Amino acid sequence: FPFCTFWSMLSLYLLPAKNGEEPTMQFLLEVVDILTNYIRKTFDRSTKVLDFHHPHQLLEGIEGFNLELSDQPESLEQILVDCRDTLKYGVRTGHPRFFNQLSSGLDIIGLAGEWLTSTANTNMFTYEIAPVFVLMEQLTLKKMREIVGWPGGEGDGIFSPGGAISNMYSVMVARYKYYPEVKTKGMSAAPRLILFTSEHSHYSIKKAGAALGFGVENVILLKCDERGRVIPADLEAKIIDAKQKGYVPLFVNATAGSTVYGAFDPINEIADLCEKYNMWLHVDGAWGGGLLMSRKHRHKLSGIERANSVTWNPHKMMGVPLQCSAILVREKGLLQGCNQMCAGYLFQPDKQYDVTYDTGDKAIQCGRHVDIFKFWLMWKAKGTSGFEQHINKCLELSEYLYTKIKNREGYEMVFQGEPQHTNVCFWYLPPSLRGMPDCPERRERLHKVAPKIKAMMMESGTTMVGYQPQGDKVNFFRMVVSNPAATKSDIDFLIEEIERLGQDL
Ligand SMILES: *Cc1c(COP(=O)(O)O)cnc(C)c1O
Ligand SMILES: *[C@@H]1O[C@H](CO)[C@@H](O)[C@H](O)[C@H]1NC(C)=O
Repeated sequence: FPFCTFWSMLSLYLLPAKNGEEPTMQFLLEVVDILTNYIRKTFDRSTKVLDFHHPHQLLEGIEGFNLELSDQPESLEQILVDCRDTLKYGVRTGHPRFFNQLSSGLDIIGLAGEWLTSTANTNMFTYEIAPVFVLMEQLTLKKMREIVGWPGGEGDGIFSPGGAISNMYSVMVARYKYYPEVKTKGMSAAPRLILFTSEHSHYSIKKAGAALGFGVENVILLKCDERGRVIPADLEAKIIDAKQKGYVPLFVNATAGSTVYGAFDPINEIADLCEKYNMWLHVDGAWGGGLLMSRKHRHKLSGIERANSVTWNPHKMMGVPLQCSAILVREKGLLQGCNQMCAGYLFQPDKQYDVTYDTGDKAIQCGRHVDIFKFWLMWKAKGTSGFEQHINKCLELSEYLYTKIKNREGYEMVFQGEPQHTNVCFWYLPPSLRGMPDCPERRERLHKVAPKIKAMMMESGTTMVGYQPQGDKVNFFRMVVSNPAATKSDIDFLIEEIERLGQDL
């Protein structure tokens, strides 16, 4: 390498190459420079949220950015360009005006945690190879169970690759509790089992039903009130109906913070029915679980301590970098019993330490990413009170939005009353639709408004917000706030932008 300039150098001169230390440090500092520049711009409101390109444009390659893999090694210079362009054509999910997803924001401590995690590059299988991370996971899960309200923080749990997987764990554990023989004999060892969930449910329960062999037909959807909360009387009627058909009601999924409306099901009333009919109660707090950290808002989840299992995604409301999701189980031992296979090459019983810390056999995965460290580090850095302040602030912002638009000309709320979570669901009516009586034509036209505005938003790159239809309701905007960088001025901006882009539709 003395004969070539640094940047035309190839990666094979980096560590572990002989004399590779110097170029390695230089290269990594360049990478850090790219990342810190990106971070600085992400928080700068004059930067766009995204620089949108169509798939074919990115595939064709733009100005030296080529996605095709190469047979020959490329120079470090090109590698740095690739890093820069990857960020350039992506979406700045930490931007104060990014409202598109339930996970948004860029927490600096969390990011540092993720860097450290990748540097450590280990696996959560066993205490043997992840001693510190395994202990952090155990301690954090216990703390989360205390916050849920289980005495002494007793119980079990594991971090999983996301809420959908955490929900799937809950169904597996419930089935194992009531029909443990399914683990060895398969579903033919059980009667026809029924799962219940809200009609507003995230589709992950249906997926779990299909993947676990229950069958989508045995996932029964429960009616909701106009605010999107499950109606307990409908649950009881459907339980009775299933029993009359000779089926076995197994599992009820109550939602704490539904994905679109942000609705909280009445957990206590559902828990009463689960006790009466001897069913497993799961609370899906993927989105709403974060509210448990707020003394002001945690009453919305009252009754959660009666759940048998809880999904809670710190990567949503708590702003932890993706991915970070926990499944918590009240009864100890079930998770292990349900999933363990005792692979001899990982979980040797005759190790020199307490092998109950080899928690990896509770997982349905083999290898498991270290998701705990960034969360643990954020908790250390903010304290429980810092999370509380973050949650309260996000809810205040959505209240601000709700108050601002509920009586504003050109807006219609999808449901009446204060939102329970940060979800604010609304239609924007361009002047051409205002005053038009409700009729199929109006519905058809209104259905197209949100997608058009969204497309223009993305093309101008100024902000992003989600939309969707729900039941018989045509496309509406779903605004959510979980981004700690967002302020009232960003909410104002969103409204101005919707009006600017939508006024001539
Ligand atoms: C987001 C969400 C999920 C799925 O979580 P992922 O982490 O995206 O897998 C499940 N349930 C609810 C209520 C959600 O909002
Ligand atoms: C429960 O309901 C919620 C939302 O309503 C949904 O996200 C989740 O996937 C459901 N499923 C399970 C297994 O809990």
